[in-house]
Formats: sequence, structure tokens, C-alpha cells
Amino acid sequence: FEKKELMYEGKAKKVYKTENDDYVIVHYKDDATAFNGEKKGTIEDKGILNNSISCALFNMLEKNGVETHLVEKLNERDQLCKKVSIVPLEVIVRNVAAGSMAKRLGVEEGTELKTTIYEICYKNDDLGDPLINDYHAVALGLTTFEELDKIYKATEKINNLLKEFFIERGIKLIDFKIEFGRFHDEVLLADEISPDTCRFWDAKTNEKLDKDRFRRDLGNVKGAYEEIMSRIK
Ligand code: C5P
Repeated sequence: FEKKELMYEGKAKKVYKTENDDYVIVHYKDDATAFNGEKKGTIEDKGILNNSISCALFNMLEKNGVETHLVEKLNERDQLCKKVSIVPLEVIVRNVAAGSMAKRLGVEEGTELKTTIYEICYKNDDLGDPLINDYHAVALGLTTFEELDKIYKATEKINNLLKEFFIERGIKLIDFKIEFGRFHDEVLLADEISPDTCRFWDAKTNEKLDKDRFRRDLGNVKGAYEEIMSRIK
């Protein structure tokens, strides 16, 4: 497969066409944004680290029966993927209270939850990706109840597999965001899973090993991403 025209450029990735209409090449950049694009920066080698981390996690999930858009890692920054049409939802899973949920509901970060929380947000930059529920999503025509059912079932499985994978490596999976894409008749896990899209806390020290180091100016952002990479290997 060869890189053809640039099809789409997002905050952290570029997507190129290939000679085959069913496949794209996804290129991982070093650019980082937070707070809906208000904070901008670059994290040296982030694209290389996130490409490797996301490929390793998608391969682990595939091995355990989760269908994903990933075909293969091509090089340091590129991966070959099935060309999906993204379901315009961000699916968020919370195992421990943190981030926007902790703030919105007035609970301390790190508070254990009595059940896993599943949230969906409408992927819309102009609106700042607002939190919605299943009825909003179906009423707005973003998805169907049938598709949502598949998405929630896959999401639960993904959370269980990721939680176990990371705890074995001394990392608590606090929360994460995933996206799904439509490919012919299927709905596949798409986008990425990386320290950009997850909260990872060291299991012993609770040290943050994710993009919160960038969002909150905690320093050593690259070191945190490298730490995640080294524990995955
Ligand atoms: O900010 P919030 O607490 O809602 O984020 C929950 C989880 O979803 C975090 O792991 C965060 O990194 C991820 N997220 C994301 N992209 C967004 C919003 C949240 O990856 N646009």
C-alpha cells in the first residue's frame, strides 16, 4: 500500500488515501492539544510512542476477539487501517473518578466508583463535545439503538481486557476514551488508545503517566509516555 492524497488532518494524526478505497494510512504527529484546542504544544516523539503503544494495544485486543480498524504497523509513525466512517461519538469509560467527571460531580479524583461509568459525548468541536445520553444520540441520528448496543458490548470487553493488561504491568487504568467506525456491515474499534486518550496512574505511587502531565503542566510528559511504552514491551 502506498500513501496517496491527504484525506484528513486532525489534531494528532493525518489520514492518507491509498490505492485501495477500503484502506487508509494513519500518520501519528507530535502535536498535542487540550481543552478543545485552547492549549497547544508538541511532545517530542509522541507520534512514534503513540503509534507503537496503540498498535500493541489494538493487537492485544484483536488477539482477544475485539474487531478493530488496524491492519498493521507500517513504520515508526504510520499504520495501515481499514477506512471506516467514524461514529460521531466519544465513548468514555471511567473505572475511578477523575477529570471532568470528578469536577462536574464534586468528587475527589481517585475516588473508587461503585460501578463502571459509561459516558457518550457528541463529537463536535464547535460544541466542545457535549456529554449526551443514548436517546440524544439516536434522536439526532448519530447512531441507532442496535449500533449502540454493539458499541457498549465491545466497550465493556475492551475495558476488561485493558484493565487486566495494565494492572499486570503495574498501571491502573483510571479512564479512557474510544471511538468506533463503520466498515461495510461492521462496527469496529477505531482511532487510537494511548496516553493521549487514557488516564494511567502508577499502581504503587499514583504518579500520572498520561496526557494530564501536558494538560496540567506537570512536566516530564515525554518520560511518562516512554514509561508506558517500556511497561507494555
Ligand atoms: O476530560 P475527561 O475526564 O472527560 O476525560 C475522560 C477520559 O477521556 C480521559 O482519559 C481523557 O484522556 C479522554 N478524552 C479524550 N479525548 C477527549 C476527551 C477525553 O481522549 N476529547
